[in-house]
Amino acid sequence: MRDVRSLLNGRPADDAPGGTRRIPNPSRLEETVSEAHVGNADTLVEAARLAKAGQPAWASVPAPVRGRAIQQLGRLVEDNAEALARLITLEIGKPIRESRGEVQEVVDTCTFFLGEGRRLYGMTVPSEMPDKQLFTFRVPVGTAAIVTAGNFPVAVPSWYLVPALLCGNTVVWKPAEYTPAIAEAFAQLFLHAGFPDGAVQMVLTDGPETFAGLERALDEGLVDKVGFTGSSAVGARLGELCGRHLQTPCLELGGKNPLVVMPDADLDLAVEGALFSGFGTAGQRCTSLGTAIVHRDVHDDFLERFDKATAEAAVGDPTADVLYGPMIDGRFAERFEGWLGLIRDHHTVRGSTAIGRITADAPREGFVGDPGAGLYYHPSIVDGVTIDDELYRTETFGPIVGVASFDTFDEAIELANGHGYGLSSAIYTTDPLHAFRFRERVSAGMVSVNNSTSGAEAHLPFGGNAKSGNGSRQSGVWVLDQFTRWQAMNWDYSGRLQKAQMDVADVSADLSFRLEG
Ligand code: UN1
Repeated sequence: MRDVRSLLNGRPADDAPGGTRRIPNPSRLEETVSEAHVGNADTLVEAARLAKAGQPAWASVPAPVRGRAIQQLGRLVEDNAEALARLITLEIGKPIRESRGEVQEVVDTCTFFLGEGRRLYGMTVPSEMPDKQLFTFRVPVGTAAIVTAGNFPVAVPSWYLVPALLCGNTVVWKPAEYTPAIAEAFAQLFLHAGFPDGAVQMVLTDGPETFAGLERALDEGLVDKVGFTGSSAVGARLGELCGRHLQTPCLELGGKNPLVVMPDADLDLAVEGALFSGFGTAGQRCTSLGTAIVHRDVHDDFLERFDKATAEAAVGDPTADVLYGPMIDGRFAERFEGWLGLIRDHHTVRGSTAIGRITADAPREGFVGDPGAGLYYHPSIVDGVTIDDELYRTETFGPIVGVASFDTFDEAIELANGHGYGLSSAIYTTDPLHAFRFRERVSAGMVSVNNSTSGAEAHLPFGGNAKSGNGSRQSGVWVLDQFTRWQAMNWDYSGRLQKAQMDVADVSADLSFRLEG
């Protein structure tokens, strides 16, 4: 059992004004993974104060040297990969193979940004006047407060923390409440990578206290940028709060990701994609498949194959080779049970031997391990979903996938966009025309062709539109605009005042000139 506390300037906080919380292993609920000593709004404000105080010194470290700290972090993560992956599987029940992939995503992020320390390019721009030069510089924003969800407890935080630090910001990280041991382990890797005191603060607290702390820290000018991964509802509240301070947060919110199956699709490939993105990680990704939108001509065939693949998939003990393990935490399980209530009489449910919790009375054939020990749920394929169903427009974070059918491409697009989310999307087709028309008309920030809705690579822009976010993008070079501001500089070395637009040399032309004939 791990005893975990907030880390302020690298030191464990000695008080726990938010009380203590026991975190069980979701695949063996009787086993305690960690005991978290929880802070409150004051802890967050104090962390922001320390981060703010440490920021100028960190920003004055040359960017290539900051890149070196990122390189060392990547090395430490790689050398501790197995321990970190096992801890992820222990604390949130993610299948071990996926946990290893998640840790690799952190290493990939570090690999990308260590080189950015030697670029972080600005431009030299010609001036309209002689003996004058124009430049652009990327300037760190200041202190970033990063609030992340627990389904990707290290990869998603790394998408914020790594570029933020590389750009010369300091960070306050508030991880999910149910991943304190993972957060502590990850923070320790940062603290050993060579970042100075003040650069990384880790605060354990709950949602309301985080909001209250952010409100105060923003009022006191201690936070210059907020990054948030989580629900659209909380994202909207944070957007409002930041807006009052003329700040634009980086928001990565929910999704109801469509997967369109055209009549010309390779159906086995489409089923494989639907299975992984629908039920992998027990459907607990923001990129998980929401609704498979299948052309009527291939609907029955697709459904048969999807049902068979889902029924045969291994579910259970996340330390084994399974498609998915338990729900991350009791609250996720509870909310998922609520969403199962969106199944209506006109729907038919496939994919397993029962609906809801896997128990001795509602067993699943081929279950790996003891279902009674953890928060395990049957996979549900809900056929007959229509655009009017609540299930169609509700993000259901768990192992449930809707299936809707369409006749025309326009109907497929309407179903792909009609719920108002716009994170990820997929189309299965062998016709390039369909692929490009889909890309053009789908409102999602991310589009897969003949690939599932989840599993984005770590160096493409990640993010969504409408209810999925405010247009901010993470990852790759695109995230640099979240953690830096452009500063424009001009330098006049003519020795006189040259006025822009007015003291500019004239280029005279004879604009009445015409070619003969
Ligand atoms: C999330 O669930 O918040 O693209 C992120 C993917 C993962 C990240 C998911 N690499 O599915």
